[in-house]
Amino acid sequence: MWAGGMPGGVPGLLFLVLLVSGAGGHVAVGQTMHYSKRPDAKNGEKLYKNGCIACHGSDGAGAAMTSTQFDRPDTFPDFTRCDQTTPEANLIWRDVIQHGGRARGFSTIMPAFGDLLTSDQVNDLVGYLRTFCTNSHWPRGELNLPRAIVTEKAFPEDELVISTELNASGAPGFTTDVIHEQSFGVHTQIEVDVPVNVQDQDHRYTSGPGDITLGVKREMFSSLKTGSILALQGGLLVPTGDSRRGFGSGSTTFEPFAAFDQLFKENTFLQFQMGADLPFAPDAAPNYARKSIFWRGAAGQAIAGDHMLGRLFSPMVEVLGSRTFAPGEGNDWDVLPEMQVTVSKRQHVRAAVGVRTPFANTAGRGPSVMFYMLWDWADGKLWEGWR
Ligand code: HEC
Repeated sequence: MWAGGMPGGVPGLLFLVLLVSGAGGHVAVGQTMHYSKRPDAKNGEKLYKNGCIACHGSDGAGAAMTSTQFDRPDTFPDFTRCDQTTPEANLIWRDVIQHGGRARGFSTIMPAFGDLLTSDQVNDLVGYLRTFCTNSHWPRGELNLPRAIVTEKAFPEDELVISTELNASGAPGFTTDVIHEQSFGVHTQIEVDVPVNVQDQDHRYTSGPGDITLGVKREMFSSLKTGSILALQGGLLVPTGDSRRGFGSGSTTFEPFAAFDQLFKENTFLQFQMGADLPFAPDAAPNYARKSIFWRGAAGQAIAGDHMLGRLFSPMVEVLGSRTFAPGEGNDWDVLPEMQVTVSKRQHVRAAVGVRTPFANTAGRGPSVMFYMLWDWADGKLWEGWR
């Protein structure tokens, strides 16, 4: 259905809109909100005082160092700190409470309570743990959807990504982007993207940096109830790449975009991004720097065995469109089927691979293989959480 006849801009956009409105009828529920009944935080508090207080403390910030006998891992939670707790999905907490720290590659000091507590009691505990963070404006980790290769998501992240695009036809070459994303406060994230190009040009390999992007993203709206999150980003592309070799645009470029993500029941998700590249000096390098707009969408499904606790597979399809404002230019359309998979047990290291194929306005554009590795460094060190 994705690749089926999408000749131009207007029908294509219509298609994306239809996709959203068509899916909208299916009432959205956050990933882990499958409570059989509402959690009873009062009951959770009772259970917490019996079983958890000795280690996690009466205020949720951790019991006094003097009264606990264990060395605290770096990831030991302070439940009053929203920046530490809101990125964690309820499902993760349920898993840790039922199966112990071991289940997610955390410290084995955190015991497994699965034999002692019913499923409802675990929900009540999670409900109580959520009361320690008193600011409800933080976007919740459930809305941090699996990263698509090209389409940027709305959720503010703490992530290091190494992403490579390899020409699959024409002259050999690749571009690797090293992307650092870091969240600040409740709604904000900064991003630095440093591309490095390696290309066979007239049978000689040349390499060099591309245009570095500096971006600030701001989450504008998010709701776990409806499964939606919206963010705006303002980015600046600095002309650090050599435009004569095709590694950069030759002009500083402003890149604003909006990203909207929607999570549905049963972990189906959609991600949209729409924006523009606006060079400050479009005439400086007429071959490269041109005003353009882009629109991107990803549809996917997260799948995992063992009641969503096992390795997470997220097959997705992206449709990527752009239009350069120059005489005789049409709309570029690409399709990118891909698969993301969690590599570490803690799911803080993930990899994805896909093949990007142009299907409209294909002159001079060939297919490419794309892959990335990402490390969510807020969830622990790179070498932690593997077993
Ligand atoms: C013997 C001490 C101990 C007891 C008792 C204990 N915990 Fe823990 N808990 C820990 C430690 C230590 C960690 C940190 C593990 C790590 O980060 O490696 C932890 C981690 C957690 C986490 C994971 C937080 C995150 O950020 O991912 C949750 C949730 C949790 N505990 C809930 C509970 C609940 C609920 C109870 C009571 C039913 C409980 N714990 C009882 C020691 C304990």
